[in-house]
Amino acid sequence: NYMKDDKVSQETKNLISSLPSDKDFMGYSLYNYKGCWYYPNTLQAVLDVQKHFRPRNTDIILASLPKGGTTWLKSLVFAVVHREKYRKTPQIHPLLSQNPHDLVPFLEIELYASHQTPDFTKLPSPTIFSTHIHLNALREAITKSSSSACKIVYVCRGIKDAFVSGWHYRNMLHRTKMDQATFEKMFDAYCRGTLLYGPYWEHVLSYWKGSLEDKKNVLFMRYEEIIEEPLVQVKRLAEFLNFPFTEEEEKSGSVEEILKLCSLRNLSNLEVNKKGTTRIGVDSNVFFRKGEVGDWKNHLTPHMAKTFDEIVECRLRGSGLSF
Ligand code: A3P
Repeated sequence: NYMKDDKVSQETKNLISSLPSDKDFMGYSLYNYKGCWYYPNTLQAVLDVQKHFRPRNTDIILASLPKGGTTWLKSLVFAVVHREKYRKTPQIHPLLSQNPHDLVPFLEIELYASHQTPDFTKLPSPTIFSTHIHLNALREAITKSSSSACKIVYVCRGIKDAFVSGWHYRNMLHRTKMDQATFEKMFDAYCRGTLLYGPYWEHVLSYWKGSLEDKKNVLFMRYEEIIEEPLVQVKRLAEFLNFPFTEEEEKSGSVEEILKLCSLRNLSNLEVNKKGTTRIGVDSNVFFRKGEVGDWKNHLTPHMAKTFDEIVECRLRGSGLSF
């Protein structure tokens, strides 16, 4: 639905008519606003977030590109931050009965979609939000807040695996499989950067630079690093959020328990994630697939892989970030 323009105000329609436009790989129109591509309804929601969302100091915002590790980060942060509440009653942990996307709502896809005025009082404190918005666009909301010290955690994944994950996600969403022609079109779109919330490198760089400038409030994490050294990364995450694990917790295996609870195997086998639909209207099961590093090798030609590597290397050159 967010590809459409039925939620767009006249003011935004006027703005859209002045923006550079292009087509995505499926033929839907995308518009470039301040360096980032959006569908009309998404742009409206982003503008509404900028206008109305004022995070509090205790709020936590999880940011990512689609297929960058959003679901995993949501579950890990929820489990870390709310661990004390369920220490004695792990059997009623919300992650066992709700999809991570229903526990950590998206700002622009859920809360501020359709010109709503969201009610945050029902969300447990500290409140965890998530977004796919570029850091510069998100900052327009944060800097207008009287308390602009909320924590932002970004998770990023290499473009090749993110692309392949996106391809499978599309296929699962549409049920009828898309063909090779679409695969190639989608590949071209990723290379050119013309995809929702893209270009990839601009998005990644905005959070990378943000994390260097403001280490206290912006944490840059990588999906591959969490896979490789999960204990280290979850402890780093907890410290950043001011919820560090105590020595006793570490000794008693609290970090391992959280990792087990949030593991792809555990979450994807839960009844709630096998069936049903999330509040954003997406089937719960499509957020879980393989969760491996390097699955791109099974899908990209060597030429495609080389093209991605060259583009990303060129775009990130001089930033200190590499893949
Ligand atoms: P694959 O398609 O490569 O398997 P997002 O959450 O941003 O939509 O990203 C989805 C990707 O994260 C998918 O990757 C999915 O399998 C993986 N994923 C989802 N939950 C996960 C978890 N708990 N642990 C590790 N990976 C997870």
